Amino acid sequence: MTKVLVAGSTGYIGSYVVQELKSREYWVRALVRTPDKIKKPGEHLEPAIENLADEFFMGDAIKVDTIAEVCNGIDVVFSSLGMTRPDFVHSSFDIDYKANLNLLRLAMKAKVKKFVYISVFNAHKMMDIENIQAHEKFVDELRASGIDYAIVRPTGYFSDMAQFLNMARTGVMVSLGEGEVKSNPIHGADLAKVCVDAIEGQDKNIDVGGPETFTFKEVGEMAADVVKKKPFTLSLPLWLADGVAAVTGFINRDIHDIALFATTVSRNDTVAPAHGTHRLRDFFEEMASKEG
Ligand SMILES: NC(=O)c1ccc[n+]([C@@H]2O[C@H](COP(=O)([O-])OP(=O)(O)OC[C@H]3O[C@@H](n4cnc5c(N)ncnc54)[C@H](OP(=O)(O)O)[C@@H]3O)[C@@H](O)[C@H]2O)c1
Repeated sequence: MTKVLVAGSTGYIGSYVVQELKSREYWVRALVRTPDKIKKPGEHLEPAIENLADEFFMGDAIKVDTIAEVCNGIDVVFSSLGMTRPDFVHSSFDIDYKANLNLLRLAMKAKVKKFVYISVFNAHKMMDIENIQAHEKFVDELRASGIDYAIVRPTGYFSDMAQFLNMARTGVMVSLGEGEVKSNPIHGADLAKVCVDAIEGQDKNIDVGGPETFTFKEVGEMAADVVKKKPFTLSLPLWLADGVAAVTGFINRDIHDIALFATTVSRNDTVAPAHGTHRLRDFFEEMASKEG
């Protein structure tokens, strides 16, 4: 039986990957930094992994001594380990690059056969953003490592689209630019299938998006319709958003990254090859009913 280590197992995509691996009868070890998170579903409806993984390994990937044995006996490492919200302690390079590099070195030592890593769709067009640089610096290490690998590059996750529901609820929908650029976001369960296919297949670079393409304006309208509100739309011209993003650079580098990312994806379409079946409206309705 193939043994897979999932790093990032308590996160949005990682928990769906644990679920998908178990449905295909893999043996799964989950690396867990925050034990409380394994017990309950995540804030964006992702599954609790407590009764899914075969084994839990408690550790913090930036403290190598806590994960020294995490790859022992493992055939494949899947990592969606990353920093998606500023913690005001670590940088993107600490987590997205160094923590994943720690895992890669341990995987090499343990003679792991394959390493599947999640980066970001269109990363090469966003190399001015530190978080993207950290992802891609790790990708370079992975390519040079000699381990068989696959890099999955998704568009935005449904979990990220939940911010439109939050804005609709507050009554103010902030739009950067006209909101006319397009994207095809993806549900965690659909992306998890692509990730497990990547473990099984030969492709090394896999761009992936969801089955439906929307403008950001359409996503905002859908969110408002689902929560039955008519929010006021505050359209920030992109030149002004750029100015705000520049100012955040003097405050905090991670908030600056988020602001730069937001202005970048508000300028260019982010449409990747379509996969999966989950519809964004169903996700919004499920989120809205959960939150009442
Ligand atoms: N969100 C998007 O739209 C999107 C789009 C494309 C690509 N991506 C990339 O996809 C990846 C996963 O995204 P996600 O939304 O699933 O992230 P997430 O929900 O924030 O999950 C991140 C996971 O990494 C773990 N982690 C972070 N630092 C760790 C450490 N030092 N040691 C051990 N575990 C650690 C977290 O553990 P804790 O639970 O303990 O925090 C969590 O399990 C990220 O690299 C992100 O940049 C995201």
